[in-house]
Amino acid sequence: MTCAAYGKVGRVTDAPTLPDLVHPADSPDSPWWRDAVIYQIYPRSWSDSDGDGIGDLPGITARLPYLRDLGVDAVWLSPFYVSPMNDAGYDVADYRDIDPRFGTLHDAEVLIDTAHALGLKVLVDLVPNHTSSEHEWFRAALAAEPGSPERDRYIFRDGAGPHGDLPPNNWRSVFGGRGWSRVPDPDGTPGQWYLHIFDTTQPDVNWENEEVRAEYDDILRFWLDRGVDGFRVDVAHGLVKDQTFPDTTGSMHTAENAPGHRMPMWDQDGVHEIYRRWRRILDEYTVPGDPDSERILCAEAWVQPEEALARYVRPDEMHQAFNFEFLDTRWDPAGYRHVITESYRSNDAVGAPTTWVLSNHDVLRHATRLAVVQEGYRPNGIGADDPQPDPELGLRRARAATTMMLALPGGAYVYQGEELGLPEHTTMPDEWRQDPIFHRTKGTDEFALGRDGCRVPMAWAKDEPSLGFGPSAKTWLPQPEAYAALAVDQQDGVPGSTLSLYRDLLAYRRKHRFGHGALAWHELDGPETLAFTNTSGDGTRTVLCLTNFGDEPVSLPDGDVIISSGPLDDGRVPTDITVWLRLPTGHDR
Ligand code: NOJ
Ligand code: MG
Repeated sequence: MTCAAYGKVGRVTDAPTLPDLVHPADSPDSPWWRDAVIYQIYPRSWSDSDGDGIGDLPGITARLPYLRDLGVDAVWLSPFYVSPMNDAGYDVADYRDIDPRFGTLHDAEVLIDTAHALGLKVLVDLVPNHTSSEHEWFRAALAAEPGSPERDRYIFRDGAGPHGDLPPNNWRSVFGGRGWSRVPDPDGTPGQWYLHIFDTTQPDVNWENEEVRAEYDDILRFWLDRGVDGFRVDVAHGLVKDQTFPDTTGSMHTAENAPGHRMPMWDQDGVHEIYRRWRRILDEYTVPGDPDSERILCAEAWVQPEEALARYVRPDEMHQAFNFEFLDTRWDPAGYRHVITESYRSNDAVGAPTTWVLSNHDVLRHATRLAVVQEGYRPNGIGADDPQPDPELGLRRARAATTMMLALPGGAYVYQGEELGLPEHTTMPDEWRQDPIFHRTKGTDEFALGRDGCRVPMAWAKDEPSLGFGPSAKTWLPQPEAYAALAVDQQDGVPGSTLSLYRDLLAYRRKHRFGHGALAWHELDGPETLAFTNTSGDGTRTVLCLTNFGDEPVSLPDGDVIISSGPLDDGRVPTDITVWLRLPTGHDR
């Protein structure tokens, strides 16, 4: 299988062999993070307290009870640090303070304490691959001479060619265009080039430099001391570069372009040493005998195959890694069967839980993506001139996919608004677009609309200005018309709504500790269905989860239907519906 960060994805599904027990039950007293459901908040777009059209920390704090009632265990906040916002905060100018648009450090402390009082853990985003070009370190590097300690915190090189006016190698930026930019020397003459795997305003940090390592140790401690329960680690596969900086022919969107051919900026062995070092720091914060006090690291690492990803979650490294192979799977039972089997096989081999995810702020929302019919691609944004995916089909499949995902043992991530079935904004006028991908690729053959369509402010109340996002009508990105009918107040307490479905799924999953269960493929599994059982560790409860991908309804064995992602057809499971069915006691699968 191949996989891509924000770009185009080719997908091959292999015919699987079906072992009986795919994954054994986890110990019932294992720590919280092994089966946690973690809700991703994109701070700019969740809740705006002051009416400036940008979500903020006081806005988030005020709405945390909504998440307790939804039934998740934790929140992960995308970056809220001081930033010029060239990449929506993934360009950090000060790691130890909050951007004034989002609030203050005090607001962050109140948020963390309020979440804890509600029984929710808090993960923050750590962005260690690059800083903003406005970070004091980068300013100092520009003011200093080539070869200085200030420059050595970044990756500066002399240019190629007789005049040094060609980039040091041919690396591209993930966001399109060159991966290097040239800067003037302090005396104003054309000088060295610096590496930026993302935007020009996101210079890559030099992880060969011990001063850099010590600085990020300290940043970890800064937030751990403020009570955060963990970090989602941005571009975790990118920190260490092949120090020979070779030219490369592979795509920047894939860590391994051909079996054994690893890209020189991705998934280098040296990254693991960094995560061992961080794990030791986090472990210092564990209160002996209290697994609930464990702090965690989750890798955002677009690497493949599954074995390579599992190296990030070996016992002395990170705790979790996002399962992007699952996210990138097409609506196809063979594909899901393959990725589920392989994910458990590789994670079980290192004793780590598998972490399931369907949406985030970098990809088409799954309520849209799963209806995209285009072959071989996950588009990077959809615009008004593109074929429009069928919203009903997308929502039906999204509900079925989530119902399947939340029956899987392990942890899971839910992206804000997916619990409402929010689709991607697929007709956003271009003048609103802010994603650097759109601006960097415009007019080139790498052209992509970018990720703004999945980052639109939340819909809380149908008849309020900005759909209840904030007290004014302002929103930093426009909300599509379809969001009004999907607002929280239209779904709250309504049987059959997507919000009610998520609440029911999460409540049942928590009560019966599905995240710790054992998984086996079930005899109803076939070319057009995906069927597995989740059995509690003590063997007293077995739930069958069945998704019908075929055209004809599928009959169920005896048992009690607990939850269904949509109405059944005379007791049978229609197309694109997932059902949880409790099998009678004594059923041995
Ligand atoms: C991954 C983040 O999720 C994405 O939003 C960001 O643009 C890149 N890393 C660069 O930090
Ligand atoms: Mg605001």
